[in-house]
Amino acid sequence: MASTPRGAVITAITSGKGGVGKTLVAANLAAALARAGQRVLVLDADLGLANLDVVLNLSARITLHDVFTGKATLDEALQPAPGGFSVLLAGSGLVEYSRMTPEVRDKLLDVIAQVRPRFDQVLLDTGAGISDVVLFTVSLADEVLIVATPEPTSLTDAYATVKVLATTQPARPMRLLVNQVQRTGEARTVAAQLQQVVDRFVSPALAAPVRLLPLGEVPMDAAVRESVQRRQLLMEALPGSPAAVALGAAAARLLPP
Ligand SMILES: Nc1ncnc2c1ncn2[C@@H]1O[C@H](COP(=O)(O)OP(=O)(O)OP(=O)(O)O)[C@@H](O)[C@H]1O
Ligand SMILES: [Mg+2]
Repeated sequence: MASTPRGAVITAITSGKGGVGKTLVAANLAAALARAGQRVLVLDADLGLANLDVVLNLSARITLHDVFTGKATLDEALQPAPGGFSVLLAGSGLVEYSRMTPEVRDKLLDVIAQVRPRFDQVLLDTGAGISDVVLFTVSLADEVLIVATPEPTSLTDAYATVKVLATTQPARPMRLLVNQVQRTGEARTVAAQLQQVVDRFVSPALAAPVRLLPLGEVPMDAAVRESVQRRQLLMEALPGSPAAVALGAAAARLLPP
């Protein structure tokens, strides 16, 4: 479902628990989608504590903050990233955005409206947790991608995220990517566990049951840390690594048929 008449498909990447791999997934899915010919933007929607710039080794010269305050235009803030996609950086430590105000809300809405016609895919790399900033950001998306690891704490937080989204926001496709798996096929078990609690405790209260669509699994892979240390995109630095190959396969499932 790419270039719909209204423009980009907007996907929010979220997790509940922090540090599970949202930014890794956002950057590398973006690179794989770009390689497949899609026009891709990653918007660093972690307004309080952005780190996409660190991973991609970009300097946050002009950021979303400058667009919000009228110091720069959107065009000035869009930067090309290694990997052939565009990024819009938030700028780090903007504490004023740790709470969602009507003003920030309007500005984010305006940015989304401006980027939608210009891309095929927009990935919103959200922050950890389910703060009002994260929930509002996710509400702007057409699809939700939940990143979880097999760790019980990650699964509990993924469940909490699915529950709050399903009960407070309109229904949308909700996908699940299981990161840092220790053995092949582990995602199937993890997805089944999560689906089971969702079926039992979330869906009965809804008009339609929530179905988590599997996007695949990414193994725990030392290549990830190595690429982060080199401040290079995994897909570019170590394209043959198991994690890069798995992320490429996940991206292929996101492509229009
Ligand atoms: N598949 C993996 N194999 C090995 N290490 C991984 C993998 N995925 C993520 N990591 C490690 O976990 C760390 C956190 O990843 P990342 O920054 O993408 O998470 P995040 O969910 O965006 O975090 P935050 O919630 O802070 O934004 C990275 O530094 C990376 O080294
Ligand atoms: Mg992140």
